[in-house]
Amino acid sequence: MKLNTFEKFIVNNPVRFWVQNHIEMPRLMSMFARPPQTPSSVLEIGCGFGNGVELIRRHLNPAHITAVDFDDEMVYATQKRFKGSDEILIQQADAEQLPFEDEQFDMVFEFAVFHHIPNWQQAVVEVNRVLKPRGYFVIEDLYRKAICNPLANVFFEHPQTNRFDHQELKAQLLHSGFEIIEDKQLYNFSGRILARKVG
Ligand SMILES: C[S@@+](CC[C@H](N)C(=O)[O-])C[C@H]1O[C@@H](n2cnc3c(N)ncnc32)[C@H](O)[C@@H]1O
Repeated sequence: MKLNTFEKFIVNNPVRFWVQNHIEMPRLMSMFARPPQTPSSVLEIGCGFGNGVELIRRHLNPAHITAVDFDDEMVYATQKRFKGSDEILIQQADAEQLPFEDEQFDMVFEFAVFHHIPNWQQAVVEVNRVLKPRGYFVIEDLYRKAICNPLANVFFEHPQTNRFDHQELKAQLLHSGFEIIEDKQLYNFSGRILARKVG
C-alpha cells in the first residue's frame, strides 16, 4: 500500500534519516553476535527514498544491492540517488510477488514496510524463497497497536485488517522456515527481529 502525503514527508526528511542512521541501523546490526561477513548480494524491500540502501552499503559493503519498492515515485527517487553505482539495482516490485529467482540473496532487509503490506504473510514466504539457506532476514517494523488506533488514522493510511504484533510476526517467521536469532520489542508498538532461513 502506498504512503499518503504526510507519511511520505515523514520518511523523507533529515529527522527520519538521523534516527535511522544513528539509532535504528546500529541497533539492528547489534543483533548479530559477530559482525556478518561481507555478503555478496543483499535485497532491501520497500526502500523508500533510498536511505536504507546507503546504510546497507556503509555497514556491509556488499558486492550487489538490490532494492525494490511498490511505489514508482520511491523507485525513481532512489534510482536517481544511486545513478552511476553499478553495484546497486533499484526496481519496482511488490513484496508479495518478488521478481527474483529462488535462493538468490545472502541477506534481506525491511525497514518499516510489512505494516503496509496487506498479505504480509505472503511477503514472509517470498523473502524465505529468495534467501539462500542460512541467509539473514533483518526486520524492523510497526505493530497493530501503533497503526490501528484513532490518532494514527488521522495522519496515516495503513491497512487496518490482518495486522500483527511481535509474537504473531515471529510465529509467521517460524512457520515459513526461519529461526529467530534475536528479537526485541517496544511495548508491542514496534520491534526488530534478526531471523535466519533454516538451511
Ligand atoms: C514507511 S515506508 C518505509 C520506507 C523506508 N524503508 C524507510 O525506512 O524510510 C514503507 C515503504 O514500503 C513501500 N511498500 C509498501 N507496500 C509495499 C509492497 N507491497 N511491496 C514493496 N514495497 C512496499 C512503500 O512504498 C514505502 O516506500
